[in-house]
Amino acid sequence: MFPTTRLRRLRQHPQLRELVRETTLSPRDLILPLFVRHGQNQKIPIGSMPGHAQLSVDNLAAEIREIVSLGIPGVILFGIPAHKDADGSDARSESGIVQQAIQEIKSVDDSLLVITDVCYCEFTDHGHCGVLTERNGHVDVDNDATLELLQDQAVSHAEAGADMIAPSGMMDGMIEALRNALDDVGFTHLPIMSYAAKYCSGFYGPFREAAESAPQFGNRATYQMDPANALEALREVELDVAEGADILMVKPALSYLDIIRRVKDAQPEVPLAAYNVSGEYAMVKAAAANGWIDEQRVTLEILTSIRRAGADMILTYHAKETARWLS
Ligand code: PBG
Repeated sequence: MFPTTRLRRLRQHPQLRELVRETTLSPRDLILPLFVRHGQNQKIPIGSMPGHAQLSVDNLAAEIREIVSLGIPGVILFGIPAHKDADGSDARSESGIVQQAIQEIKSVDDSLLVITDVCYCEFTDHGHCGVLTERNGHVDVDNDATLELLQDQAVSHAEAGADMIAPSGMMDGMIEALRNALDDVGFTHLPIMSYAAKYCSGFYGPFREAAESAPQFGNRATYQMDPANALEALREVELDVAEGADILMVKPALSYLDIIRRVKDAQPEVPLAAYNVSGEYAMVKAAAANGWIDEQRVTLEILTSIRRAGADMILTYHAKETARWLS
């Protein structure tokens, strides 16, 4: 009684294994996050994210050339402004840190896709993702007042030359508000990548050090999603598609592979991104530094798994090393 069907047959020859491989991973699938800070000739390493640093605008050129030469198609920008205030004015200033960075990158190499994170947490002195309001002694982010500020920020990024905006603040009605604002001033062609299902996650810890954007009180639970919810992610995604999102995103990635799959199944026609976030990166780096895991093998396995779950593209801090490994 021996088996007729033997799945091991297709695993015998390396070329055959490759022929039957269902999921591919290429540098062309990856988007690299960059942290741009105020000041001159700055390159401040981010302790919890080995290999990453806050770069001042005058130090971007070499980095951009390297990214392009590795075949990475795009970057997403996060800004650390010189000055933070209650309503995050640098975020929508013509001379804001992100606006300067867009122009610099475009002047170095305009073939690179420049995506901007549209959100206020890096720009407000309180570290929340919008402006605050008080209701019955309880302080919270004011949804609709924040929508107006996000509109100004998005238009300002578009005017500076961004190729795509990626709103991450999890305000209700955000995509429709941004679509209208962009269309009103003639940016009808500018796509929106929506952080549609963004969870209130502990995995953002290292990012908040990197972007200096930790909330100064409380947490983001009144706007980001509860990690326990999946059906709610489908509602978020449906709304964003109806409001005009061009690309959807699930974030974080690794603990949310089920969400990536469900979103892809629910909206198969809409391109899907996943954000392999800072804490996921830091865990791999820390274990690898201790010699506990094989960094290359584990990283490629993680990124392949995110693709297998249904992501068409991945925002990842591993983009540069992965592009080297794959070439
Ligand atoms: C918010 C934003 C965050 C990240 C991307 N956009 C942080 C947050 O919501 O606190 C996190 C990304 C990461 O952890 O890598 N503007």
